[in-house]
Amino acid sequence: MADGFDELMAAARAVRANAHAPYSNFKVGAAIRGESGRIFVGANVENAAYPQGQCAEASAIGAMVAAGDRRIAAIAVVGGEPGNELCTPCGGCRQRIREFAAPDTPIHVGDPAGLRRSFTLEALLPHSFGPTNLAF
Ligand code: THU
Repeated sequence: MADGFDELMAAARAVRANAHAPYSNFKVGAAIRGESGRIFVGANVENAAYPQGQCAEASAIGAMVAAGDRRIAAIAVVGGEPGNELCTPCGGCRQRIREFAAPDTPIHVGDPAGLRRSFTLEALLPHSFGPTNLAF
């Protein structure tokens, strides 16, 4: 597919293998195409103190920001298994993506076998609150 889609999905799938998910056994990988064209990856990082766990999308956003990019052109999330429910981003991660993305930014959701479904940010987080809602 065009625009490096295959590369983005492959990056999300590859980084999923590095997830630290000993408590849920639910490994997730995320890959972001930044505005520079670079790809930033992250995996979920769980913790023995359960609430301190971090989602794959949050890890990838941190990598993007640390590297200097500030816009998400596209994001791919790979988790779960074929036949199971989609590994759509959680509510908190939808908001995290919102900070750096546009309403039409694609969010590709897959499992290790490949793409399952593509959404836009607007579809997953309608009527969202973002930087422009702050009146200063
Ligand atoms: N998880 C993610 O990393 N991203 C998602 O989109 C959904 C859920 C993680 C959080 C936790 O480590 C595990 O998957 C089970 O919820």
